[in-house]
Amino acid sequence: MADLAQAREWLDAAGRVAVLTGAGVSAESGVPTFRGHSGDALWDRYSWEELASPEGFYRDPELVWRWYDWRRGLVAQANPNPAHHALAGYQERRAPSVVIVTQNVDGLHERSGSLDVVRLHGSLWSVRCTRCHREFADERVPLPELPPRCAACQGMLRPGVVWFGEELPEREWIAAQEAAATAQAMLVVGTSAAVYPAAMLVPLAQSNRAKVIEINIEETPLSPRADLHLQGKAGEVLPELLK
Ligand code: OAD
Repeated sequence: MADLAQAREWLDAAGRVAVLTGAGVSAESGVPTFRGHSGDALWDRYSWEELASPEGFYRDPELVWRWYDWRRGLVAQANPNPAHHALAGYQERRAPSVVIVTQNVDGLHERSGSLDVVRLHGSLWSVRCTRCHREFADERVPLPELPPRCAACQGMLRPGVVWFGEELPEREWIAAQEAAATAQAMLVVGTSAAVYPAAMLVPLAQSNRAKVIEINIEETPLSPRADLHLQGKAGEVLPELLK
C-alpha cells in the first residue's frame, strides 16, 4: 500500500516520534470507546455530565463510583491487543526517541510493556482523597465499599482521573507538549481528536513541521488536516506499519 510505505518513510526519517493514543487503541481489547459509530460508545449510553465531571461526582458520588467500578472490572478482564504490543515493540527498538502520550486511563499500554507513558487523563487504578488529597494506587475489583474511604483520614476518595472542566496534570501536560513540539512525525491512533487540550498536541506538532499520520476506523475532525489518514483497526494497521 502506497500510504503505508509513505508513512514508514516519514517514521524512518524522523529523529523523534510522538504517539497520541485514545480509546480506539483499546477497542480491540473489548474496552468500549466514548464516541464513534460502534453502537456501544459510552457517551451514547451514559451522560458525561453525571459521570465524568466534578459537579456530577459531588451530586452523586455513589453513582459515579458504581460506573468506575464497572469500568475497572471491564479493564481488569481485558488484555493488551496487537496495537499496544506493536507500539511497545516499536518504542523498545527506537528507545528513547518514541514517546507515547495517551488519553486512556486503562493502563493497557503499560501492561504491554511500554515505558514512561505520558498519561494525560490519569488512571482508573489510582484514587485520590477529597479531604487530605493523598493519591493511592488501588487495584481492587470490585471495590469493597462505594464510595471508598481514605485509609489515612477516612475522607471520601475519588477516581484518579481527569474529568471535564478539570486541568490536566501539569507534569504530564508539559511532557506531552515537549514530545509533540520536538517530533518530526506524530502517530495519532484511535482518538476522535475532539477533546481539548489533548487534541491541541496535533497542531502543535504540525506547527513544528511534524508529519501527522492518523490511524482510525473512521474519519475524524482531524482527518482533513492530517498528512495521511490510514483507515483501519489499530490492531491491524500498527503491527503492519511498525514491523
Ligand atoms: P473517543 O471514544 O472519543 O474516540 C475513539 C476513536 O477511536 C473514534 O474516532 C473511533 O472511530 C476510533 N476507533 C474505534 N475503534 C478503533 C480501532 N479498533 N482502531 C482504530 N480506531 C478505532 O476516545 P478519545 O478520543 O480517547 O476523557 O476520547 C478522548 C477523551 O474523551 C477520553 O479520554 C475521555 C473522553 O471523554 C474523559 O473522560 C475526561
